Amino acid sequence: VTRVWKLDPLHYSNLSSAGAVVDAAGLADDAAALQEAGGLLAGGGTVAFPTETVYGLGADARNHAAVEQIFAAKGRPSDNPLIVHISNEDQLDELVLEVNETERKLMQAFWPGPLTLVLPVRPGKVSPRVTAGLDTVAVRMPDHPVALALISASGCPLAAPSANRSGRPSPTVAAHVLEDLSGVIDGVLDGGPAGVGVESTVVQAGRDGAVTVLRPGGVTEEQLARVAASVTRDPALLRAGHADSPAPRSPGMKYTHYAPKGALCVVKGRTAATVSAKIQAELDAAQDRGEITGVLSYDEHIGIYRADVAVSLGSLAAPEEAARRLYAGLRQFDEAGATFLLAEACPEKGLGEAVMNRLLKAAGHHIIDADA
Ligand code: TXA
Ligand code: MG
Repeated sequence: VTRVWKLDPLHYSNLSSAGAVVDAAGLADDAAALQEAGGLLAGGGTVAFPTETVYGLGADARNHAAVEQIFAAKGRPSDNPLIVHISNEDQLDELVLEVNETERKLMQAFWPGPLTLVLPVRPGKVSPRVTAGLDTVAVRMPDHPVALALISASGCPLAAPSANRSGRPSPTVAAHVLEDLSGVIDGVLDGGPAGVGVESTVVQAGRDGAVTVLRPGGVTEEQLARVAASVTRDPALLRAGHADSPAPRSPGMKYTHYAPKGALCVVKGRTAATVSAKIQAELDAAQDRGEITGVLSYDEHIGIYRADVAVSLGSLAAPEEAARRLYAGLRQFDEAGATFLLAEACPEKGLGEAVMNRLLKAAGHHIIDADA
C-alpha cells in the first residue's frame, strides 16, 4: 500500500528560485508527515516527493536494496544512473572526491535549483546502482521546501529519478505519481504542482570554466553563460535522432522517454501559416482513416484546429508556461486514447530549448517539414 500525505500547498506557495523561504507554521503542521516519510526512507523505503522541477522517487543513495526498489518500481533500464539529492553542501564531502572552482561557482549561482552537476564519485560511498558503474555521480540540491525538509528528515542523500514508470511523461503533480506507481512505492508527499515542469539541467564543468550541457533543463544556457567561461552542448544532443549520433555522456538521453501511447510527430516550417495548414491536412487525413487525433499547440493557434483532443501549452511568447504544461498535456492524449498526434515546434529560446528536447524525444525524433 502506498501512503499519501497531503501537505497544504498554501504553505509552499511562496517558492522562489533564490532559495525558497518556508512558512515556519507550514512546516510545523506538516512535520509529522515529513518525519514519517523520512523514517521510511531511512529504513530503506521509497517515497515520492515534489521538487521545483518534477516529482522524484527517493531512496537512500547508499542503500543498495533501497535503490534496487527504485529501478523495480519504475521498470528502469539498469544502465541509466540516478541523480543524488542533497539539502546541504556539507553532504558533498561524503559523496564526491573533489569540487573544482567552476563547479563551486555553479553551485553558488544555481543551488538550490534545477542544476545537476556530474562530479567524481567517492568510491564505495553510493550504491553502484546509483552511478550505473560510472566513476562519476550526478548531484543536485532541489529548490523546494518539501524536498529539502524530507532530505533533512531522512538523514540520507536521496537518489531520485523522476517518479514515473519508465517511458511515461514525468509527473508534475502527485496524482500522476499515483497513476504510474500506486501500490509499488511506500509513499507520496503531495505538495501541490511542481514548479518548472521539466527536469534539471545536467552539466559537467571543467576547471577552466568550460561547461558542457548533457541534458537541457530548468537552468537555461543563457543563465549558465553568465557564470561559465564557455557553454557547449554534448555533441550527442546536437546529432540526436541521426544514425551517426555519438553515444551521449548522459546515459539516460539515449532512451525514448516521455513517449505518449499514440504516434507523435513534431511539425516544423518557415511560417506559422504553412505549419498550421500542414497540421490540419494531416489531422483530416488521419481522422478519415479512423484515427483518434490530437494536436499540441499554443494559444495563438489552438483555435484553428479541428482534432479530437487539442492541448495548448500557453502563449508562444512564454516558454516557461509551456514547460510547466508539457508533461500533463502529453498525459491528456493518453487519457483520451489518441492514436495520431501532431505537435507544433516552439521557439528554442530560454526554457523552449528543454521543451523542444523533450518533445523531440517523445516523438522519437519524427519531424514533418511543412515546407517540403
Ligand atoms: O529534475 C530532475 O533532475 C529530476 C528531479 C526528480 O530531481 N530527476 C530526474 O532524474 O530527472 P532522472 O533519473 O529522470 O534523470 C537523470 C539524468 C539521466 O539523463 C541520467 O542519464 C543522468 O541524469 N545522469 C545521472 N548520473 C549521471 C552521471 N554520473 N553521468 C552522466 N549523466 C548522469
Ligand atoms: Mg526521468
